[in-house]
Amino acid sequence: MTSISRIQNIKGTHDLLPGDTVKWQFVEKKIHKFLHLHGYAEIRTPAFEASDLFIRGIGDDTDVVSKEMFRWTDLGGNDLTLKPELTAPVVRAFIQHQLGRKSAVNRLYYLDSLFRRERPQKGRQRQFNQFGIEAFGSPHPEMDAEVISIAYNFYKEFVIKDLCLNINSIGSPDIRKPYLDTLKSALSSVTDELCKTCNYRLDKNALRIFDCKNPSCQKILDDQAPFISDFLAEDDQNQFYSVLSLLDSLGIPYTHDKKLVRGLDYYTHTTFEITSSALGSQDALCGGGRYNKLVEQLGGGSVPAIGFAAGMERLLIALENIDIENNPDIYLVLLGERVLQQGSKLAQLLRMDAGFSVVIETARRGMKAQMKEANRKKVKWALLLGENELDAGSVQIKDMASGKQENVPFEMIISYLKDNPG
Ligand code: HAM
Repeated sequence: MTSISRIQNIKGTHDLLPGDTVKWQFVEKKIHKFLHLHGYAEIRTPAFEASDLFIRGIGDDTDVVSKEMFRWTDLGGNDLTLKPELTAPVVRAFIQHQLGRKSAVNRLYYLDSLFRRERPQKGRQRQFNQFGIEAFGSPHPEMDAEVISIAYNFYKEFVIKDLCLNINSIGSPDIRKPYLDTLKSALSSVTDELCKTCNYRLDKNALRIFDCKNPSCQKILDDQAPFISDFLAEDDQNQFYSVLSLLDSLGIPYTHDKKLVRGLDYYTHTTFEITSSALGSQDALCGGGRYNKLVEQLGGGSVPAIGFAAGMERLLIALENIDIENNPDIYLVLLGERVLQQGSKLAQLLRMDAGFSVVIETARRGMKAQMKEANRKKVKWALLLGENELDAGSVQIKDMASGKQENVPFEMIISYLKDNPG
């Protein structure tokens, strides 16, 4: 006999099984509620976009664009990419639908799947999920403080180990050239010790050398690289200190991390990340910052913006020990073919008229197997309908916690369940 090889999920992707999805739904509900509380409205964009959006938006020399995009040419010759992040698609939609015309400040949020061809490990997948927000229209520090406080306060709603907010400013693009010239000259004597990619980046897009994961390159940067935040123009510095002082007044603790430049080219001014020691080596729960030039760069007007995105898988890792259950209320045990019709009618009535969550037996098993199933599903009640009950116009209602069982006429079932909530 030939054996048929079984198809498995693709490396870096994961199935979420019912035990996982209850936790995801719990968190997703919180996200929708929390962001609604802050006046953000949901936006959904397509799974794939023109590759050019990401190349122009995120930058050719970033890890995401140069190494990690799932990119292909379709049969019509279109160069397409599965979205690796959501800021560029949301900016595209913001421009395309002229959202800026409708309101001076647009507050948007999302919850979606993204794709990056990274080396999979705990907290790093090739298909992963983010929730995030993007606020368009305000260049002011109170907008930064709002966005950062939303991220921080969201995590505070849960108990997460060693929550740490790191913040920095990389200033406006005007300071980039003088800073990068200084950076290049500071590293000119050690280029032999830097890896090939760092050397390439130093030449092409020097800020991106901070994204190198090679420990010896990181050590050189620690020892020799000047910090961009020491090059801020006075206005940018004032803006940054205003953001910090607003965070102080909100009671949000932070660390000024002068090395935090973030790995995507669109950032200007404020950058931030929130980490937790619960995560291991991939410790960033979320990251974000200002991107005051991106709307213009992608063909829109001059619209300042700021946002963040948060990894759902990482949040779920940090919440590993939460115990969430979402069990049905009732298991409807059916015994004998004659009761099937009445059983279906009863289940429909209990769901539609009374709002109980009901699972009905459809495998035609014996009493013992059905009661075992009711136990496994951790329902509040098992309702037993056999031929004797059908003839008597009643069901047996068993309270699974107490074991108490009573015979209840059909017309009394809903009021009985409501009066005896278990
Ligand atoms: P990012 O830092 O690339 O930023 O991603 C944000 C968060 O997504 C990370 O902190 C992490 O929690 C999660 N994440 C990223 N890659 C993976 C992966 N391969 N597997 C699992 N989780 C991952 C952005 O995406 C920006 N668009 C954020 C932003 C919004 N900036 C401004 N607005």
